[in-house]
Amino acid sequence: EIPVQDFTTCDATQQMITKGRLDGVDTAFDRAANMKACPIGADSACCKHCFMGPCRLNAKDPYGKVGVCGATIDTIMARNFARMVASGAAAHTDHGMSMLDLFREVVNGKIKDYSIKDTQKLEAVAQSIGIETEGRSAKEIAVELYEALESTYTAVEGEIPFAKRVPPKTLETWRKHGVVPRGAMREIMEIMHRTHMGVDQDYTNITKQCSRTALADGWGGSMVATEISDILFGTPSPVSIEVNMGVLKEDQVNIIIHGHEPNLFESMIESVNEPTFIEAAKAAGAKGINLAGMCCSGAEVLVRHGIPHAGNFMSTEAVLITGAVDIMAVDVQCIKQGLVKVAECYGTPLITTNPRCRIEGATHIEFNDHEPKKSTDEIVIKAISRFKNRKAKVQIPQNVNIGVHGFSHEYINYMLGGSFRGSYRPLNDNIINGRIRGVAGVVGCTNPRVKQDHVHIELVKELIKNDVLVLQTGCSQIALAKAGLTTPEAAHLAGPGLREVCETVGMPPVLGLGSCVDNSRILIAASEMVRIGGLGDSIADLPVAGCAPEYMSEKAISIGHYFVASGVYTVFGVTFPIVQGTRFHKHLFEELETMGFGKWGFAIEPQEIARLMINHIDKKRQALGLDK
Ligand code: SF4
Ligand code: FE2
Repeated sequence: EIPVQDFTTCDATQQMITKGRLDGVDTAFDRAANMKACPIGADSACCKHCFMGPCRLNAKDPYGKVGVCGATIDTIMARNFARMVASGAAAHTDHGMSMLDLFREVVNGKIKDYSIKDTQKLEAVAQSIGIETEGRSAKEIAVELYEALESTYTAVEGEIPFAKRVPPKTLETWRKHGVVPRGAMREIMEIMHRTHMGVDQDYTNITKQCSRTALADGWGGSMVATEISDILFGTPSPVSIEVNMGVLKEDQVNIIIHGHEPNLFESMIESVNEPTFIEAAKAAGAKGINLAGMCCSGAEVLVRHGIPHAGNFMSTEAVLITGAVDIMAVDVQCIKQGLVKVAECYGTPLITTNPRCRIEGATHIEFNDHEPKKSTDEIVIKAISRFKNRKAKVQIPQNVNIGVHGFSHEYINYMLGGSFRGSYRPLNDNIINGRIRGVAGVVGCTNPRVKQDHVHIELVKELIKNDVLVLQTGCSQIALAKAGLTTPEAAHLAGPGLREVCETVGMPPVLGLGSCVDNSRILIAASEMVRIGGLGDSIADLPVAGCAPEYMSEKAISIGHYFVASGVYTVFGVTFPIVQGTRFHKHLFEELETMGFGKWGFAIEPQEIARLMINHIDKKRQALGLDK
């Protein structure tokens, strides 16, 4: 039996895996240990795109063999990679589309339970794509904005609306290579067509469509999700928050929301604050109702409302082992089917809410934006009844950590420049004068193939020690929050330059921005750094780098590729689905950079990842003439 310390650095998760073992419950950690990853699949050296195969090539001798149709290893790997991009991009764009559906119905008055909360953001987003706002009502602007953003998905020609936000030189590179997205639906459809048997069999041409589709995610679907969520639910600004499993309360009704789309959670916040439910909870013997988030659903409301966060992706089964969760409601993405069994063992109802995501053995209570409270109220009632009838022994790890999160692009602007003249100028100046060496995005999931949180934490520590400012989204920021690195006090772990900047501004050296779709905030921040000047003409010139050190999903591949296509050096950890030493590998890891894009990188150990990222940042500083 593998010691739990090898699975995760998260103490609370260790305690719960141990308890689970005593209770006879296994988790994805145990299953990963018992599931040897398929070595051919890990290298993406197999193809099952037609029934003359499936064909397996040999990663040790990649050019020794071709598929039945004659497909080379490069074609096979590029097609597999392209379909990962398509799936990941589809997930983010469909999430964005759900937000846009909600926005449309709010704007046309058919939905009354939600409203436009942030009209300033509404105007700013509209202006950014050339919509006139002067002297117009919020409703007029919103109607036009909706129509414009719908084309992010449906346009069959032209360029997606947010292409207008891309630095001109970066956009020029995209146009030169024919990768400016039209509508996301068209790009995803085309990628599926081109990767069908017998169509696109040139890995460089397939990579182009990967870029076009991934950009339709980053500057399209994901960006729409972020911007519309801000308009409807408010733009984040820093709040002090609690993370870790100790946010559960033994004497309260504990409700966990896990998944991705903020509308479910926003409605749940309303439901748990209903006086009748609070009364009902008290009548059932509880002190109150305690709402906490997990995964990206949690990250959304963490940064907007300061709702506590119980843990990231690899803690979602572990949290149920506490026995203290009175209900877990989920919507879409990153929801392990394994939750069903764990929930069953502890008598916790697992509720699916989205028609896109039903799970065998879970209870489905459909959430509908037109009557949101109908479903969230029902979930609260069920939770109270589970509390009343709790049979499982409750054991809550007492770990609680504090962090300050919610650094939206808008807030960073304000924080650095003040309310009179918000600007990225001070950030650029501090990069130019060398106090800040560069900026890194450290994002993404946790993965049981590596020790949970370990790579995130050690990598970020090394980066800030070297004066690299770190921006974070998704599950990664929860790893760092649990390690105490998202507080202003963590500045003492930073190098002297970054430390001075953090202390002057009163900010943490590690800035939590939001959920995975909020990686779009990092794109906007990068564009703003280019616009302010002094750091080159395109995103590819900036002394920045990105990393998803413990990634696990196809969504992460799409995110990684839109950063690469936008001009960012992006390093992934764990494993990379490609055979080293092949031409497709060389294309992604070297040639894309010479074409004006960013490029991919790969390393497993945190020190090695940090070295790659810092070397790249230094290379860009040199090219800009900042370090002579
Ligand atoms: Fe084999 Fe070619 Fe069919 Fe793929 S498309 S399974 S490589 S024959
Ligand atoms: Fe996510």
